[in-house]
Amino acid sequence: MSFTLWFTGLSGAGKTTLSRCVYMELRRRGLAAELLDGDLIRNNFSSELGFSRRDRDVNVRRIGFVSHLLNRHGVISVVAAIAPYAQAREQNRELLETYVEVFVNCPLEVTERRDVKGLYARARAGQIANFTGISDPYEEPAAPEVTCFTDREDVAASVGRVVDYLEGCGLVPPADQCRLVETCEQDDRQWRNRLARLGYARAD
Ligand code: ADX
Repeated sequence: MSFTLWFTGLSGAGKTTLSRCVYMELRRRGLAAELLDGDLIRNNFSSELGFSRRDRDVNVRRIGFVSHLLNRHGVISVVAAIAPYAQAREQNRELLETYVEVFVNCPLEVTERRDVKGLYARARAGQIANFTGISDPYEEPAAPEVTCFTDREDVAASVGRVVDYLEGCGLVPPADQCRLVETCEQDDRQWRNRLARLGYARAD
């Protein structure tokens, strides 16, 4: 059975890292899965959108719709996008037959201190408007299926908990029941580099 696994949380909370690790684990287990990362989606499907509530809702809705199409054909959709508004997330929960929400929970002080992309500093300096957590809301999920605390657990622990949840509800078979695909990392890198060469994504 297919499903959508949505990593929501503040910028810099760890959505990209965790979603990518879980996605690779699903591929390693021979499952058909696609990774829809916010940045890739915004560059290709939603490049005309900004960060107003309306634009974010359109973006989140589009990702939900693409996920729906993938799921319909048996492909797992792994999404990493802030999706700050509860209402838009709940619409996707209604649309998608099986929607699993992972709250990548990390306090603002920590994401701001990390400031991986330098965006928090720019937002504080007033150079970026409507920045999530600074000048725009993030509505925390009330009942996520899984919560990862990325300020106090390492990547392996967070990934392990997500995978355990998926196994626990029968969405993913245990690794020892799968024929493992050891080349998936390499295949994925080749595909990603090809996308980068064609201007769709950044190179790894
Ligand atoms: S969402 O709100 O529509 O779900 P999405 O996950 O696609 O957001 O994009 C968030 C990414 O856009 C962030 O990781 C950050 O790199 C970048 N970004 C640029 N401006 C903003 C902003 N005002 N608020 C949040 N993220 C921003």
